[in-house]
Amino acid sequence: MSRFRIAPSILSADFGRLAEEVKAAEAAGADWLHIDVMDGHFVPNLSLGPDVTAAIARATSLPVDVHLMIEEPERYIEQFVGAGAASIGVHVEACTHLHRTLLQIREAGARPCVVLNPATPAAALDSVLPEVDQVLVMTVNPGFGGQSFIRNTLPKIRQLRRSARQLGDSLDLVVDGGIGLDTVEEVALAGANVFVMGSAFFGSPNLKEFVQQVRAKLGPLENP
Ligand code: DX5
Ligand code: ZN
Repeated sequence: MSRFRIAPSILSADFGRLAEEVKAAEAAGADWLHIDVMDGHFVPNLSLGPDVTAAIARATSLPVDVHLMIEEPERYIEQFVGAGAASIGVHVEACTHLHRTLLQIREAGARPCVVLNPATPAAALDSVLPEVDQVLVMTVNPGFGGQSFIRNTLPKIRQLRRSARQLGDSLDLVVDGGIGLDTVEEVALAGANVFVMGSAFFGSPNLKEFVQQVRAKLGPLENP
């Protein structure tokens, strides 16, 4: 299985000190930076776009993982790749031509990621799984940081890890929403290997210690 990675979500950072927050996350030992893009239509909230993404990418050497919570995401893929996105996630629920959109992400030069809302079953991905480098399972309903983890997403994570194994197991299985010290072990045991953390990460008093605490929980589960 792919190795464990911690991906702080910028949504919970102090937007007035974005570059500093990004550098602090990197110095603390984060592996990726996760950027939540919201359009006020697909989700009720508004957040940020390609220009702020580019500013974040300039402030870090970490891979920038862009999560598009927007309608018609195919209209913005090249802009986000130009802004420095290493991977781009699009929601199954927002894509009329999902297969085409995933190929568009790869052709534009980023790793394609497909995202599932809590109510969308794993089976929705059966025909596209071989086309993606990542699957992101929403473990809260998208739109806001600081919500509680939805525990009945665990069977879906297990099912997707089983499917990933059949495809050679190089897939990154990302979980997003309500992940912190009290939930990271159970999602890792279910098969997730990338942990998006917003409020738990940026709300912790000491980022470096927080990363060490997460790694201490994950260490015993890491493959040799
Ligand atoms: C929610 C976003 C998440 C959010 C997670 O729609 O996709 O990335 O920032 O925040 P926490 O970790 O606070 O649930
Ligand atoms: Zn996200």
